[in-house]
Amino acid sequence: MEFKIKNICCIGAGYVGGPSMAVIAKNCPDLEVNVVDINRERINKWNSENFDELPIYEPGLKEIIKRCRGLNLHFSTEVKKNIANADLIFISVNTPTKTKGVGAGQASDLKYVDSSAREIAKYAKGKTIVVEKSTLPVRTAQTIKNILEQSNIDNRDTKGNQREFFVLSNPEFLAEGTAINDLENPDRILIGGEDQEAIQGLANIYENWISERKIITTNLWSSELSKLIANAFLAQRISSINSISALCESTGADISEVKLAIGSDKRIGNKFLNSGPGFGGSCFKKDISNLIYIANHYGLYEVSEYWQNVISINAWQTNRISKIVVEKLFNTISFKKISILGFAFKANTNDTRESPAIKICKDLLEENCKLAIYDPQVSPLQIEYDLQLKQSDNLSNNDQAEWTFADTVIDASINSDAILVITEWEEFKFINWEIVYKHMRKPAWIFDTRSIVDINKVKMSGINFWQIGKGKI
Ligand code: UDX
Ligand code: ADP
Repeated sequence: MEFKIKNICCIGAGYVGGPSMAVIAKNCPDLEVNVVDINRERINKWNSENFDELPIYEPGLKEIIKRCRGLNLHFSTEVKKNIANADLIFISVNTPTKTKGVGAGQASDLKYVDSSAREIAKYAKGKTIVVEKSTLPVRTAQTIKNILEQSNIDNRDTKGNQREFFVLSNPEFLAEGTAINDLENPDRILIGGEDQEAIQGLANIYENWISERKIITTNLWSSELSKLIANAFLAQRISSINSISALCESTGADISEVKLAIGSDKRIGNKFLNSGPGFGGSCFKKDISNLIYIANHYGLYEVSEYWQNVISINAWQTNRISKIVVEKLFNTISFKKISILGFAFKANTNDTRESPAIKICKDLLEENCKLAIYDPQVSPLQIEYDLQLKQSDNLSNNDQAEWTFADTVIDASINSDAILVITEWEEFKFINWEIVYKHMRKPAWIFDTRSIVDINKVKMSGINFWQIGKGKI
């Protein structure tokens, strides 16, 4: 049976659901795309008159929302109605790591997927393709199938019509900060499933703007596993280069030169070799933890230990940054002010999930210092939430841990003893260090955890300088 898809519903209006549906709506003007979420505040932001108040910052996103919202792209909390009208439903909800119970700290919490499947089971009509878009543990599709098939014993909708569900896995490989470009020009589209017509139905949507050659079809389990493994391999590369950054600092080698030398080998490639303060984001740690959980489940303890080390090196890399700062500032930072440049887990996003900045700031605050935090996209409210500490109106002169939000780099630098660059925002590459230096307390330090600061300009300004992976500067 050929599927004629006219109406799409996406459950979950987050970092994945929002941008992916926006790009589908833009490229498929004949499709109606409805994005639903239980979080009313988030939906209100997606519908805000002022496009600068969208809940997600992503270059190029605002322009697409301006163009499509209200035409064939709609955001609402009307889950029931939009599920009932849909020919194809994407499940794009969050799957955080479990914090308690069986598998705590490793397994994904599937409660949102479970409840989405139950809502679909309740409200869907006729033949419906159900697509897993969130990253999920292998064999989650089976759980979804079971819920869909068993929730309604005679499989009839409210009007008594026969219903049928076709479950597909279609993981999203977009990276935050480049989401729109990744969605418009993906390396590949992966569709896992059993029913060829359903697979073709979904492929037809993508073929509106992506070449058929880029569409890979597999069985359900390969598709689910491939997404976990792609993220695990990427994270492993970062842990590898980060481990070498420390070795460079000890030996006098330079990580950027090592990166160039090894990255020129086509077999290695030059992408994803930037050492930094440790990987963050909602995916890498969660997906590797999941992989560890699965490997342990099958008794593959050496496999799980191997991947555990990728996470351990990452935590070690983040932890060593605050230690270096304290050591360079004469082993005490109480009464001192440190400016934090960047709080998002990477540039071009307002997302702070698993951001190394959170751990580094908390560690520094433990030493009773004052922090002035500047990030062009992260809100002070989000930082308060992440640090579990209210911001102060003004930083006092006592030795209590405090933080305040700075509106500009210069504001952050006033009277500060050190500047710590944590996120690689473009504007940090062009800071006028001579001006900044004038505002700082002396001796002044810059700690560049992303290797983006122009060393020559800093040298001329007179500020002391530490950069990740640089032996001697
Ligand atoms: C990742 C995957 O790239 C994407 O395919 C998947 O769909 C979701 O997870 P994301 O987490 O959004 O995407 O961003 P990514 O660019 O992968 O960066 C993850 C973390 O690694 C960031 O903290 C980033 O700063 C860090 N990173 C990345 C490095 O430290 N060095 C690098 O060379 C690349
Ligand atoms: P991701 O990065 O995977 O997109 P987010 O946390 O940004 O994750 O977004 C997931 C969204 O899914 C959240 O806005 C959350 O409110 C929404 N969500 C979770 N469960 C449901 C549900 N049962 N129905 C509708 N929306 C849901």
